[in-house]
Amino acid sequence: MTVDKKAIALSFSRAAFRYDSVAHVQRQVGQAMLAVLAAQPATFNAALDIGCGTGVLTMALAPFAQHITALDLAPGMLNVARRNDGDGVIQDFVCGDAENLPFEAEQFDLVFSSFALQWCDDLGKVLQDVYTLLRPGGRFVFSMPVENTLRELKLSWEKAESRFHHVNDFLAVSALKDLIQASPFQLQVLQEKLDVAFYETVRELTRELKTLGAHQVTNNRAQSLTGKKTVFQMMSNYEHFRNHQGMLPASWHYVVVALQKPSLS
Ligand SMILES: C[S@@+](CC[C@H](N)C(=O)[O-])C[C@H]1O[C@@H](n2cnc3c(N)ncnc32)[C@H](O)[C@@H]1O
Repeated sequence: MTVDKKAIALSFSRAAFRYDSVAHVQRQVGQAMLAVLAAQPATFNAALDIGCGTGVLTMALAPFAQHITALDLAPGMLNVARRNDGDGVIQDFVCGDAENLPFEAEQFDLVFSSFALQWCDDLGKVLQDVYTLLRPGGRFVFSMPVENTLRELKLSWEKAESRFHHVNDFLAVSALKDLIQASPFQLQVLQEKLDVAFYETVRELTRELKTLGAHQVTNNRAQSLTGKKTVFQMMSNYEHFRNHQGMLPASWHYVVVALQKPSLS
């Protein structure tokens, strides 16, 4: 995968103002992550949220942490997060890249990240870097979409035009497990979940993905605008998925993971 970071930052910055109005799946994912945190109650001194977006989940870390840092690649997202944080729950806002984290070793007790790490080229490196940032005993709780996410859209595009990718490849759960096993972390939780969102039309889904800023394709994307005929073919392929209630499904397959850096004994 080759990720164009500038394009991703621009796409999410543009999406920032409307992101919260369509982030329904992301909110469900967030609830699952907060439940994982709450299941092992602890008060962390310093927490970092990587890919904080509009800051909704970052602010929800307040019961768990005393000092909260929000980091995002997209300046537009950080601006909205700052505006959303009227109560001043978040102490630091940092514009930065998950793959080049600008912090000192052992600076955090909790690193959190929801639906952001799928935009990274080298997740193994991110795991290693987060490990370094955590103090002994610290936790890394993250979620990310995996292999079957948006499978209906992907299949519909592939049948219409196989030359280019129109939907990102998401990591296989087995590959993620291998990366975790190769890392120095101890695995505490790995939950695999499937949420299905429903739409009346394919346009409604693609418009929502655009509003989420999630329509950027990272690998072998079409260099020019896709022709109307191909788009029409993709939409007609998607009709095969229409269910008995007359709705089109869009699958969100994701994992919620909690890792721990071993304590000093
Ligand atoms: C789908 S949004 C999720 C936002 C938030 N965590 C939530 O759950 O609502 C993904 C966020 O990750 C950010 N992002 C993408 N790639 C990143 C990277 N390499 N480093 C930091 N943030 C990144 C995007 O700018 C965007 O704000």
